[in-house]
Amino acid sequence: MQTGHSTSEVEINEKTWRIIVGGVRRLGLVLAKSLSENHKLVLTSSQTPERAEEISKLSILTDVRRLRWDANDPQLTSQMMTDLEALRGDGIQLNGAVIAAGTFPSTPLGSWDVNTLQQIWKINLTFPFLAAQSLAPYLTDGSCIQFILDTCIHRPWLNRLPYSSAKSGLASLVYGLAQSLAPNIRVVGHAIGAVLPDAESDPAFLQNQTLLKRLGCPEDLIRAINYADSSPYLTGEILTLDGGRRWFI
Ligand SMILES: NC(=O)c1ccc[n+]([C@@H]2O[C@H](COP(=O)([O-])OP(=O)(O)OC[C@H]3O[C@@H](n4cnc5c(N)ncnc54)[C@H](OP(=O)(O)O)[C@@H]3O)[C@@H](O)[C@H]2O)c1
Repeated sequence: MQTGHSTSEVEINEKTWRIIVGGVRRLGLVLAKSLSENHKLVLTSSQTPERAEEISKLSILTDVRRLRWDANDPQLTSQMMTDLEALRGDGIQLNGAVIAAGTFPSTPLGSWDVNTLQQIWKINLTFPFLAAQSLAPYLTDGSCIQFILDTCIHRPWLNRLPYSSAKSGLASLVYGLAQSLAPNIRVVGHAIGAVLPDAESDPAFLQNQTLLKRLGCPEDLIRAINYADSSPYLTGEILTLDGGRRWFI
């Protein structure tokens, strides 16, 4: 039958929507590229949407919507509600969410003060809490909310205890939210080891601190995200992907 649509139009129309909170940089962007094969994407960033080359490339492969969600925005909650209503108004049904936003600052004992701690927890804890609360009513039944945690929930990073405690707080959120949102929405966390180490870290040292003697790669995380997304019997669980870092003595 002649539909008037090209093959690529039909393929894009058959894709379902996923939102990645923190989806235009680093791991979030790698994930977006992978998910674009089978999904349309809503990507959030704290930055004003610009026509970044990487996002332009993604837009050729699938439908992409950009939202500005900044953890530091005093109007964050109302901004999220406005944006989600607008997406719904455009007929966009979200079938899953990945919350990847975070920061990884070095804050050894002695450097803590009220402002530093508030800032770390605002981005790594408050923001994911608020994003999950805002997103939940807009997700279709059967959706999974996935949080990117850190293997530090098992063994805290001593130079980054405020960050580690925020991620442990998110682990608690995974367990509690899974109970609060069941049976319609599933909730899963991923406690990952070093995948894209920051400039301050020593990759060789991090690699040696694992049982498998290697860093993670984005594909390790992508595999786990796809597994959780497509596993309707899985909820309230944290998958640890750290090459055995937590068992290394
Ligand atoms: N990389 C690793 O090896 C590793 C290891 C363990 C855990 N993780 C976790 O995995 C996630 C992604 O890691 P990554 O290395 O890609 O992280 P990252 O470079 O630290 O940034 C993650 C995201 O957070 C967003 N973000 C930063 N400030 C924000 C703000 N004020 N408001 C809203 N969003 C903000 C950034 O987007 P914008 O700048 O566009 O806003 C970015 O997309 C993080 O949660 C991290 O803790 C990563």
